[in-house]
Amino acid sequence: MTTEDAKKRLCLALDVQSISDALRLVEILRDRVSLFKIGFQLFTKEGPSAVAAVQSLGGRVFLDLKYHDIPNTVAGAAAEAVNMGVYMFNVHACGGRQMMETAVEAAASQSIKNNTPRPVIIAVTVLTSLNNGMLANELNVNKTLSQQVTHLASLAKASGLDGVVASPQEITAIRGCCGCGFTIVTPGIRPPWINESDDQKRTATPAEAIGLGADYIVVGRPILKAEDPAAAADKILRDIAQLR
Ligand code: C5P
Repeated sequence: MTTEDAKKRLCLALDVQSISDALRLVEILRDRVSLFKIGFQLFTKEGPSAVAAVQSLGGRVFLDLKYHDIPNTVAGAAAEAVNMGVYMFNVHACGGRQMMETAVEAAASQSIKNNTPRPVIIAVTVLTSLNNGMLANELNVNKTLSQQVTHLASLAKASGLDGVVASPQEITAIRGCCGCGFTIVTPGIRPPWINESDDQKRTATPAEAIGLGADYIVVGRPILKAEDPAAAADKILRDIAQLR
């Protein structure tokens, strides 16, 4: 794989406290990163201005707000995500088929109205912070984690979604049930030269995740906390580019 191809796979988690911190990173990294993920922390602090600020520097945005509500409410949020011009956003597959279908329909019709491309819409299946015990004892789900992940990924696909967020361990099973046109976005990435996994439990290196079939890898702290974020991103790109 070339470094240019590797860049198309890298998504930076903008888990920072302010627009100015985000903009500093976008400026340094926009030539190395394909997507900038804005999640709860930055969006709760700064709101849609954070999205507009990243876009003003040419960055494409993955809005990671994991919508999960009644279909009508999620449809309204999906239309607003379209109005913000985000490249990608996500919903919880646990909201059910009707919620996911309605989100896709609302995004599609708003995109037609605005004459803009419809965002890529992906689903969260089972949060990677949950394990088999929690699934059974707290959520009363009588399936293994892996069965539940593939069930919800298939439901997301049948509901018209474009892909899922998945841990590196789930990529192969999801490819098996949802095929190769289905986008898989994978957090929990730790480069081989980093010793701590922070709070991530099931990690993979950038090359491992892409080799297993991830379309995008989401990387936060290995770049955000690096002394030289650009050099850390370059090293990650080289790690991916060694793949054939
Ligand atoms: O710093 P780190 O590389 O662990 O950041 C991973 C990012 O991916 C964070 O923004 C986190 O919220 C997000 N994420 C995750 N696991 C999921 C879904 C999203 O780590 N299952």
